[in-house]
Amino acid sequence: MASLHRTSVQIGFIVLIASAMFVPQSNAETIAIIGTGDVAGALGPEFAELGHDIVYGSRDPHRDTVKALVERTGGSAYATTPSESVVGADIVVLAVPGALVEAITLSLGDLSGKIIIDPTNYFTAHSDGMPMMAGTTSNGEIIQAAAPDAFVVKAFSTLNWQTMVDPDSAGGPVSVPLVGNSVDAKATVAALAEGMGLDAIDLGPIRYARHVEGMLIVWINANFYGGTGFEYHLRKVAVD
Ligand SMILES: NC(=O)c1ccc[n+]([C@@H]2O[C@H](COP(=O)([O-])OP(=O)(O)OC[C@H]3O[C@@H](n4cnc5c(N)ncnc54)[C@H](OP(=O)(O)O)[C@@H]3O)[C@@H](O)[C@H]2O)c1
Repeated sequence: MASLHRTSVQIGFIVLIASAMFVPQSNAETIAIIGTGDVAGALGPEFAELGHDIVYGSRDPHRDTVKALVERTGGSAYATTPSESVVGADIVVLAVPGALVEAITLSLGDLSGKIIIDPTNYFTAHSDGMPMMAGTTSNGEIIQAAAPDAFVVKAFSTLNWQTMVDPDSAGGPVSVPLVGNSVDAKATVAALAEGMGLDAIDLGPIRYARHVEGMLIVWINANFYGGTGFEYHLRKVAVD
């Protein structure tokens, strides 16, 4: 009887281990995307396609354009207010005007422990009309200071939204520079970028965000002095 009992316990244990081994493991994250414009409309559906749950944070979640974006995103996507959208989120994307990142970050409540993806750019006009960086630091650093216990990763600011949804249009691999203080957070964002068909390159801590954001000035200035404009893509060099 004792051996029969032991056998049942052992079998039960084996069944438990076996079922744990075969339960499909979900890596789905809940991603709040603040804003519903071009960048939100590119990243939201891409992240949803990777199996993540998307919540849009909009000033007007009932607007027809927001409803259309939710429908296009599919899956479990829905829209609500910005502060509601971040409540259960693992990752928050600030797809908002660059001038507003500090105010919007502060308005979202406690973001401790969350990854914040910052794709923003922010420039203004110099007195001679040429574009210039609007601040002396960077939006990445401003967001990190506004949410000190969150893990800010600057990403996706160096490519336009069309390339985000169609990396092949660049005629070859496109690399996305990542800067942030958390190696783990950058690995999570790298996985998202690579899932979209982009490469990710780690350029160091968040203090380098100002250099990544400054790349926009290179692009805009090409349109001055009679320039015809150009597109650029960062691309890893193949190493044998
Ligand atoms: N467009 C690109 O190809 C591209 C590429 C890389 C980086 N970026 C940068 O990414 C950020 C977002 O760009 P985007 O092109 O997606 O901008 P956008 O089309 O203008 O969308 C910005 C979104 O921010 C939300 N928002 C919140 N407060 C706002 C306010 N006071 N005024 C206006 N909008 C407000 C709006 O969503 P609700 O109305 O739903 O609240 C709006 O849809 C910018 O910093 C931009 O420089 C853009």
